[in-house]
Parts: sequence; structure tokens; C-alpha cells
Amino acid sequence: MSDFVSGFWNIYVAGIALVSIIGCGVFLWLQGTATNATGQTTGHVWDETLEEYSNPLPNWWRWMFYITIVFSLFYLAMYPGLGSYQGKWNWSSAGQYGGEMKKADEQYGPIFKKFQGQDIRVLATNNEAREMGQHLFLTYCAQCHGSDAKGSKAFPNLTDNDWLFGGTPEQIKESITKGRDAMMPAKGLKPDLTAEQIKDLASYVRSLSGLASDSIRAQRGKELFVPSGGACHGPEGKGILALAPNLTDKVWLYGSAEVEIINGITHGRVNRMPAWGEFLGEGKVHLLTAYVYGLGGGVKEAPAAAPAAPAEAAPVAPVEAAPAEKK
Ligand code: HEC
Repeated sequence: MSDFVSGFWNIYVAGIALVSIIGCGVFLWLQGTATNATGQTTGHVWDETLEEYSNPLPNWWRWMFYITIVFSLFYLAMYPGLGSYQGKWNWSSAGQYGGEMKKADEQYGPIFKKFQGQDIRVLATNNEAREMGQHLFLTYCAQCHGSDAKGSKAFPNLTDNDWLFGGTPEQIKESITKGRDAMMPAKGLKPDLTAEQIKDLASYVRSLSGLASDSIRAQRGKELFVPSGGACHGPEGKGILALAPNLTDKVWLYGSAEVEIINGITHGRVNRMPAWGEFLGEGKVHLLTAYVYGLGGGVKEAPAAAPAAPAEAAPVAPVEAAPAEKK
């Protein structure tokens, strides 16, 4: 109602509501006082023998109707319902929601606060925090990433150590807080690719992760790859964090079938992870980060913080030195 500048519509709507209710009452009262010719028919006949009698309404029915009329007037006086009148109790759904949220904040706020200051890596091993994180995950995240967080087509698996945007606690937190956008332009950087060239590229992309492909096509695709996609996926197709996924691993966000790859190159891909920071607040995001990190795929050491191994004594490469990405 507040969209209207003049008060006319307010009065118009409230007037119709009141007149209808009072009209019902008057009509009911007239029905009760009218001297009906009890026992006589109105002359209406259906199905040959079904006749309508002119009996007054039963009293129990009339009184119930009176009670609903009184109730509706009481309701309209107390709650919003008459035009823009807010009602005597000043109730609103937003107000009720705010009140419930405030109560919940008072109840759970201290618990979130307790966890908020703790390091994600430590929190990920705390059972109480993990349980709370899981509840939050099932409420806010499972519809896209699945209740087991393993994702599905177009929604990344969060339990493996293959990250589109990085798997350190900080990177995961940033993904959740600010959301993420991914965009593969149709036909990459060469909008004039022909259908045949796209097929060649798809064969090359499949060959990168060792999948069966036509070797002649793959060879032709290789030559096309750098000018059409190399700037984003890297010259060897190994991907660039937060820009374009690794095409050489076994993880596929949209599937490895040739038709899916051709589809992706032809029409491009747009994907979005919504931002949760403002809606959930720091406390819940912190717990969710610990939960996701604790699913097993989180990078155990920040790559920059890993101590440089002495040159001669490094037979084993550090695991998860660099996060892989998804395609
Ligand atoms: C509406 C669907 C949707 C919901 C709900 C959603 N996500 Fe996502 N999420 C995505 C998509 C899609 C991506 C991939 C984004 C991209 O490629 O740009 C993603 C990416 C991510 C990533 C980055 C993964 C990587 O490989 O780097 C994390 C972490 C993540 N989501 C966690 C969460 C958490 C925690 C929640 C619950 C608060 C959540 N998501 C809710 C759709 C969703």
C-alpha cells in the first residue's frame, strides 16, 4: 500500500473489507428475523423429485457465522489487514522474524563466538564444531553440493583435494563468504571456431587426461588449443587457480563425455557459488569453513608456509604442494 502516493486506495480497500463484513452480518440478521413460511417449498425442483424447502437457517449455523464476523473485526483491529492500518498490536512478519533471530542470536551467539577465534585447522578436528558445521551444511549447502558434499554435475565435490578456487582454510572461507563466479566463454578466445575445429579440440582435451580420442583430431586440436584456450587453462591445459580448471586430471565438473566437452566449448559455461558472508555471518561461515576443510580435501599446509626442503634430501615431493583444480 505504501507504494501509492494518495490515500484513496487505502480507504477503498479498507472500505470494501468493512462493508463486506458488516453486509454479511446484516444479511444474516435479516435472515433470522424474516418470517419464513416453514415447511413450504420454494418451487425449485431438480432431478424430477428433489425440492427446495423454504426453512430458516439453523440457529447453530447462524451463531457460528456471527462469531466469525466478530472474530474478523477483532482480527482487523489488532493485526494489519485493513488497508495500510498496522493493527493495534503492531505485528508484522518481519518483526516476528527479527525477534526470533534475536532470541536465537542470544542463545547461540556465545557458542559461535567461542569457535570463531579458533584456528580452522584445529576446529576441523573438534567434534562439537564439526557437528554444528554439518547441521549448517545440510541446511544451506546440501541442495547444491549434496548432503555428502560430493557435488554433482556443475556443483563441485568438496571432499576431494581438487579445488577450483583453492583448498587452504583462507581460500575456502573466501569461497563461502564472497561466493565465486566462473565463466567459460563460448568457443574460448576464438569465437570463429568451426564445428569441426571444436570436435578436434574436444579430442585433444580428452587426450590430455588419457581418455580415448581420435589421434588425428587430437593433433589438430593441440594446435588450436593455445590460441583458443591456453591463456586461461595454461599452455599445457593444467589450469590456473580461480580462472580456469585443470583439463589434465580425472575430475570433471560437467562430465568427460565428448558430447559434454563439445557442448562446453560451443556454448561456454557459466557457474556461480552464492555469497554467504552477509546472510550467515562470520560465526557460521567460520564453522562451515572448518567443516568443509575437515571433509578431507583441505590443503594441510599453506603452500607458501611449507619449509623449503634441503636440495639433496628431498626424495618425496610434499603432498598437495599446489591445489589442483577442476574442469
Ligand atoms: C545454489 C547452489 C550452491 C549452494 C547453495 C552452495 N554452493 Fe558452493 N558452489 C556452487 C557452485 C556452482 C560452485 C562452483 C562455482 C564456480 O565454479 O564458479 C561452488 C563452489 C564452492 C566452493 C569452492 C570449491 C572449489 O573447488 O574451490 C566451496 C568451498 C563451496 N562452494 C562451499 C559451499 C558451502 C559451505 C555452501 C553452504 C553455505 C555452499 N557452497 C552452498 C554452488 C552452490
